[in-house]
Amino acid sequence: MADDLIIVGAGGFGRETVDVVEAINAAAAVPSWHLLGLVDDALTESNARRLRARGLRHLGSLEDLLALEARPRYVVGIGSPLVRRRIAERLDAAGFSAVTLTHPQATIGSEVTIGSGTVVCAGARVTTNIRLGKHVHLNPNATVGHDTVLGDFVSMNPASSVSGDCVVEDEVLIGVGGVVLNQLTVGAAAVIGGSACVVRDVPPGAVMVGVPARPMEVNL
Ligand SMILES: CC(C)(COP(=O)(O)OP(=O)(O)OC[C@H]1O[C@@H](n2cnc3c(N)ncnc32)[C@H](O)[C@@H]1OP(=O)(O)O)[C@@H](O)C(=O)NCCC(=O)NCCS
Repeated sequence: MADDLIIVGAGGFGRETVDVVEAINAAAAVPSWHLLGLVDDALTESNARRLRARGLRHLGSLEDLLALEARPRYVVGIGSPLVRRRIAERLDAAGFSAVTLTHPQATIGSEVTIGSGTVVCAGARVTTNIRLGKHVHLNPNATVGHDTVLGDFVSMNPASSVSGDCVVEDEVLIGVGGVVLNQLTVGAAAVIGGSACVVRDVPPGAVMVGVPARPMEVNL
């Protein structure tokens, strides 16, 4: 029987996560997930319309979810690593447990471990001897090279690429089309801008842009 599932966040990635769930169900002989609906504290009118058009239910706020007696499985479909962490920590503390979702059109190679709460979208490529932490998002066409470790709550936006032998620490966000060259470490909570190419280790919390990537200038 399919397990009940709730997605937290009805924005872009939340609804892309619905696509992943639907594709997993369509590919299985028996559907794996029964999607109860989406939780969103600040549902916009346009996202409400998008949910209605797909026949998806808005189940209220995070507080409404926490107030349920039942404990459906969950996944957080929110792109911000920090927001994702805060929500996952509250839900885990309340006895919920996260699921791992991999789109059937992603490819996962050999000796790969994937943490709970991680969502792997269509076209993502994960090769060999790789560890993906908890609540990682691999957006469409993201690629992770051999022997690389992604920490918890890492977001790889569409078409971003981390090469072999890299360490990407917790809560890093790699923007659309961002590239990390091989054997580099990206420090915790760093942001790699869209289309940047990282060629040196990145300190924690840095925001890097350009080719080669340099710290973003802050105009005070
Ligand atoms: C790097 C980033 C986080 C900076 O965000 P921000 O602080 O809001 O930056 P701003 O938009 O205010 O831009 C500040 C300056 O940096 C420049 N800049 C912003 N992003 C840049 C990037 N990726 N590469 C090069 N320059 C960039 C802007 O042109 C601007 O320069 P200016 O002051 O000379 O005009 C953001 O632009 C980015 O690339 N995010 C990733 C987005 C993404 O992946 N989207 C897909 C979602 S699925």
